Amino acid sequence: MKIADIEIKNGICLAPLAGVSDRTFRAMARRFGAEYTVSEMVSAKALCYEQLCKRPVTAERTKTAPLAAVRREELPMAVQLFGAEPEFVARAATLLESNEYRGTLSEVPPSVIDINMGCPMAKIVGNGEGSALMKDPVLAASVVRETVKAVKIPVTVKIRAGWDRDSINAPELAKRLADAGASMICVHGRTREQMYTGKADWSIIRAVKQAVEIPVVGNGDIFCADDARRMYEETGCDGIMVARGAQGNPWIFAELQAAAEGREYTPPTAEERFAVALEHAHGLVEDKGERVGIAECRKHLSWYLHGMRGAAAARNAIMQASSMQEIEQIVKDLRDGAHFL
Ligand SMILES: Cc1cc2nc3c(=O)[nH]c(=O)nc-3n(C[C@H](O)[C@H](O)[C@H](O)COP(=O)(O)O)c2cc1C
Repeated sequence: MKIADIEIKNGICLAPLAGVSDRTFRAMARRFGAEYTVSEMVSAKALCYEQLCKRPVTAERTKTAPLAAVRREELPMAVQLFGAEPEFVARAATLLESNEYRGTLSEVPPSVIDINMGCPMAKIVGNGEGSALMKDPVLAASVVRETVKAVKIPVTVKIRAGWDRDSINAPELAKRLADAGASMICVHGRTREQMYTGKADWSIIRAVKQAVEIPVVGNGDIFCADDARRMYEETGCDGIMVARGAQGNPWIFAELQAAAEGREYTPPTAEERFAVALEHAHGLVEDKGERVGIAECRKHLSWYLHGMRGAAAARNAIMQASSMQEIEQIVKDLRDGAHFL
């Protein structure tokens, strides 16, 4: 797959996950085979307003800049913006492209700007942002057109099937967005109404693929290589994005790469799972400091340890832990077969 000039050989991508796909998570996904990653969603308005702030914008004060931070070794990657006002999204995109905004923590600009038209959360759609844009195709196209005009790097869009089952419009909307200059469309085959329940309807992804010339990435319910194979076969998509399937399981990308290249896949040993889980926790603490890092590593560790003997008790102990030392001991005890009885 190619997004403008950016080659993504096997089309294997990590989807954006607010509160999850920070740079530690993206680095893990990358290490095991994700060829392209997307940041957590970033408010276009917040990024713009920080530039007007009278007080200095420092790394400690800003909540927005760390979400948009890109390291050189992460490329190719996208920073995802959300917003419903074309001028704010376009302005935020120019800030990201120039990498000269106040508070930036980026070593380099992102390769791509992605625009969120899929978020179902009430506080986002209440502002007309995220999946609410699917209800206003003219405005949605204008957000894309103004952003494409404002930057040289490619602009892509992530959409859902539609707002609800009576207003499935992904194929028509995708066509408008492609005409407005989008370089790729990712389709999550659920409606806003479904949130994350039920099954993703992959026939919508196929309909989008048939409606546009630009690359289409299929998303929704890929949890193993067989799902990915079916996604390609049933939809004709150019690439795939995995979100929940990567939580506590960066090896899914190794599995997908092995399948794409016709190689045998060997799942990680328990030992490797423990080691990578702890490495992930350490990465979070290093990046965000002990207090935030420990709070955030709890959910990741419970994903990594899911299904292991004694994991439920270990998870409870991790919830109470307040230092990395305690967390290491809990994981070590679990590994050594102590089940916290
Ligand atoms: C916790 C969580 C956070 C998410 N955050 C974002 C986001 O910031 N931007 C976005 O476009 N989609 C977001 N999504 C949607 C996912 O990218 C993806 O479309 C959805 O989970 C379906 O894919 P999956 O079946 O592989 O999980 C999020 C999903 C979850 C579960």
